Amino acid sequence: MKKGYFGDFGGRFAPELLMPPLLELEEAMARIMAGEPFQRELADLLTHFVGRPTALYHCANLSRELGFGLWLKREDLAHTGAHKINNTVGQALLAKHMGKTRLVAETGAGQHGVATATAAALLGLECIVYMGAEDVVRQAHNVQRMELLGATVRPVDSGSRTLKDAINAAMRHWIAEQGTTHYCLGSAVGPHPFPLLVRELQAVIGREALDQIQARIGVLPDQVVACVGGGSNAIGMFHAFVPHAQVALIGVEAAGDGSPGCCHSATLSTGTTGVLHGTMTKLLQTVEGQILASHSLAPGLDYPGVGPEHAHLQALGRAQYVCVTDDQALAAFMRLARTEGILPALESSHALAYALKLTGTLPQTANVVICLSGRGDKDLEIVRQELLKREG
Ligand SMILES: Cc1ncc(COP(=O)(O)O)c(C=O)c1O
Repeated sequence: MKKGYFGDFGGRFAPELLMPPLLELEEAMARIMAGEPFQRELADLLTHFVGRPTALYHCANLSRELGFGLWLKREDLAHTGAHKINNTVGQALLAKHMGKTRLVAETGAGQHGVATATAAALLGLECIVYMGAEDVVRQAHNVQRMELLGATVRPVDSGSRTLKDAINAAMRHWIAEQGTTHYCLGSAVGPHPFPLLVRELQAVIGREALDQIQARIGVLPDQVVACVGGGSNAIGMFHAFVPHAQVALIGVEAAGDGSPGCCHSATLSTGTTGVLHGTMTKLLQTVEGQILASHSLAPGLDYPGVGPEHAHLQALGRAQYVCVTDDQALAAFMRLARTEGILPALESSHALAYALKLTGTLPQTANVVICLSGRGDKDLEIVRQELLKREG
């Protein structure tokens, strides 16, 4: 396989000015991150700061209703409330070892921005977060969290004023300030080495889940399920299971309101191959290659591209990608809250909604593990407004 590629996908389609920091990062991964001292330091932070290992929880109530064993890998219990912290603590530590003094990041839902601001505060780095002007309004609570953690939030007014525009702005900042700055990218997307770097930092989720489920039931699960925005929690969850062909890997994308032609974020299910943010992957685009507007009730799934490794797993037939609508995700959110006492993030609710559809289709002995990528506190206002709309 070509370096930086996952089959036909991935690569480094970057402007010349971005090549030096990308090569520097690739070199630092090999020289610093691969070394034993870095890995020891990271493991210590993951245990004592992030709170790993996160629990693997057996949903006894919901399992009874569904007719099979349902398990949740509780990334909502990680510090700051989502899997994003695994990636930012790792990248911030690497940046510090590289002699950088500042992190620049993009954020959509705000979770990655909060996680970057947190890691920066911990490690004494300056932090600037670009955020689409639209998202600054929608996720005001997370903007406040970032500012309290000492980060500067810069609203981005160009384009659709959402995540993809924030990524463009963060990349421009990195080009200009590469001597002092590390770009802490928030998902398994972007030019090589980012998809690999983020996967390596998130793979702890699947490694723990694999050990935990075997310790609990003595066998591998039948299915492993995760929601897919850029694809970082999903690739982190899948990676340890990929070699175990008997475990089905299911990525769940957002189908928006589900009507034909509506805006959605189902890149792998409906997209075509192209280049966005420096990587060859599946995209929501016109035949002329213009990026289409995307939408999801879950802000973190609203991205018109996807990590290239997912496009590869799909092409291989090793992972399957399915769609869930806003309504189904909202229903799953409510059901987990009422049956298990857990408020899931709306992103994670998509993965759960897929599992709910399996009711009555699997034997009682089957086991399904879902990556519960984050907690739902950040989504309470969206949920409140959606419930009001539906009540009419
Ligand atoms: C809780 C949560 N889950 C999932 C995602 C989607 O990102 P990814 O596909 O990279 O895991 C986000 C992104 O903000 C998120 O906040």
